[in-house]
Amino acid sequence: RDNPLVLGIESSCDETGVGLVRGTQLLTNTVSSSMDEHVRFGGVIPEIASRAHLDAFVPTLRQALAEADVSLADLDAIAVTSGPGLSGALMVGVSAAKALALATGKPLFAVNHLVAHVGVGVLDSAFPDGLPPNLGALLVSGGHTEILRVNNLAFDVELLGSTIDDAAGEAYDKVARILGLGYPGGPAIDRVATDGNAKAIRFPRGLTQPKYLGTAEQPGPHRYDFSFSGLKTAVARCVEHYEADGVDLPVADIAASFQEAVVDVITSKTVLACREHGITSLLLGGGVAANSRLRALTAQRCAAAGITLTVPPLSLCTDNGAMVAALGAQIVMNGGEPTGLRFATDSSLP
Ligand code: KG4
Ligand code: ZN
Repeated sequence: RDNPLVLGIESSCDETGVGLVRGTQLLTNTVSSSMDEHVRFGGVIPEIASRAHLDAFVPTLRQALAEADVSLADLDAIAVTSGPGLSGALMVGVSAAKALALATGKPLFAVNHLVAHVGVGVLDSAFPDGLPPNLGALLVSGGHTEILRVNNLAFDVELLGSTIDDAAGEAYDKVARILGLGYPGGPAIDRVATDGNAKAIRFPRGLTQPKYLGTAEQPGPHRYDFSFSGLKTAVARCVEHYEADGVDLPVADIAASFQEAVVDVITSKTVLACREHGITSLLLGGGVAANSRLRALTAQRCAAAGITLTVPPLSLCTDNGAMVAALGAQIVMNGGEPTGLRFATDSSLP
């Protein structure tokens, strides 16, 4: 099909998202978040998230259809996140999607949340002539940090490197907690860091020592992998030292220096992997792709390496339904078979 009208449903964490796309054109992206209900716990509480999805789904769907002036009968397909994510939360979106598919007779496609995060980059004529060859992706979210080769966005995405412990977003959230910046921590650190000196403290760059990197000819065990848990510990030690000395915590400097360590290693390893795998176009996606310093340094280093970079607008970086619709449309346009109604959620989908 040429320009399928696809409804996308996302419920893997705290955002209830319903998006509509036509081919690669974004029609609407409606998101309802239960984050306010999780803030006082310092993390997303699965049971609360599931109940919030239940309350939010129908109003969010109604609003999306109204905004795009579309009725369910107009749809060519429905796509839904089947994993990874919180089981109970995923189940609400998947049950809703199955109910809609059953009631309307529209084909249903189960979509991988992680691929959708980078697939959203195709929206709004980023690639008027179709997806380029030699495409790669950098996925940076609350649960994942991965360098990917995109052989075929709809069916074949290959993992080149990933974090061996904390994800980048998780590191931001944990360090924000150490610095007393609250939850969720990514946006808070991003904000505070603008007033800090990123060179104030030299924090460790995980897995960048020669024994892990190796060489292009003889790659080490973690050439394209990441580790952020040592960095988090280094920040905690640093804070302890200041506190033991009774000195006021230079929160902005620590935040900026931490952020620089994360972003430096992510961008340098991504460019390295692109170079060594002949990747010449890169999609950036995931919640941490909203980070201002990551956006700036990725753009700078990609430009220097001759890599064409596609960065989604901020509203499409964090969890949303449009990314699910965008990937669903890619699957439809590539002739993918509908998943049907008989599939389960998979909270640890790779
Ligand atoms: O992709 P996402 O919305 O949910 C997952 O699939 O995980 O990502 C959420 C993560 C959180 O850890 C949050 O702190 C981080 O993205 N994040 C940011 C920023 N905005 C969100 N991290 C750094 N800078 C930001 N501006
Ligand atoms: Zn996500």
